[in-house]
Amino acid sequence: MMIINSIDKLRDVLDAQRANHKTIGLVPTMGFLHQGHLSLMQCAKRDTDFVVVSIFVNPTQFGPNEDFEAYPRDLKRDAERCDSVGVDVIFAPEVSEMYPEQASTFVSCEGAITRTLCGASRPGHFKGVTTVVAKLFNIVQPDKAFFGQKDAQQVVIIEKMVRELNMRLQIVPCPIVREADGLAMSSRNTYLSETARKEALVLSQSLAEANRLIQSGERDPEAIINVMRKTIETAPSAQIDYIQIVDGRNLEDLKTLKGEVLIALAVKIDQTRLIDNLRLTLPA
Ligand code: PAF
Repeated sequence: MMIINSIDKLRDVLDAQRANHKTIGLVPTMGFLHQGHLSLMQCAKRDTDFVVVSIFVNPTQFGPNEDFEAYPRDLKRDAERCDSVGVDVIFAPEVSEMYPEQASTFVSCEGAITRTLCGASRPGHFKGVTTVVAKLFNIVQPDKAFFGQKDAQQVVIIEKMVRELNMRLQIVPCPIVREADGLAMSSRNTYLSETARKEALVLSQSLAEANRLIQSGERDPEAIINVMRKTIETAPSAQIDYIQIVDGRNLEDLKTLKGEVLIALAVKIDQTRLIDNLRLTLPA
């Protein structure tokens, strides 16, 4: 496995692969890799011939009061993990390699889908994400790129960007990976104290509660959200950012549950903002 920091070097390596008719898979990450990331790499190994994992904590998707500086980083450990699943190249550029000059060109989805859910409390976040992902797509020119469904809104926005800008690749969304007790895997789980880690279970528990209600016939979003809110409020340090039930394709709020349904939530446990979601397909 190679670790490459330079865009030019990476392009040379990938050109050689393409000349041999190899398909390229890209797994974009911000590092501090966990089992969820490894499952994306395994999908990429299955679907493509040559797998690139990018590890780049992208400053432009963090707000001024967010955790860019504190975001956990451990390239040595990440490299061991990538190697263990047969990744071919890690692309780990410095900030100066990705943004050598003050950027004035951005890729920004201006639709309502970037203002709802996480977009409401993280203004500018998705502009940073679409810009860096578009740059990574230009650099790597992958046949397929693999993203985790835990960031459900990110997946919908990136799929829209790819469609609308005629980018020539396939986006492959992959299922959420959970700890044995239900907590969705996230690099930010490392911020949780032992107590907060226990309290964080209310996120997945509230989604399980929602699922039970839906399976027993409930279709009213307000009724489901109220039950979820009560479950979350049993955690003393929980502060709800949002609980929303939206159409999974365009992220518009649903008045009644039908078709592609996305139940998504963001909750702060202590100082750590966690997200989780559940996707369901119901009769239209
Ligand atoms: O999901 C992430 O880790 C990031 O948003 C991504 C897609 C790697 C872009 O920085």
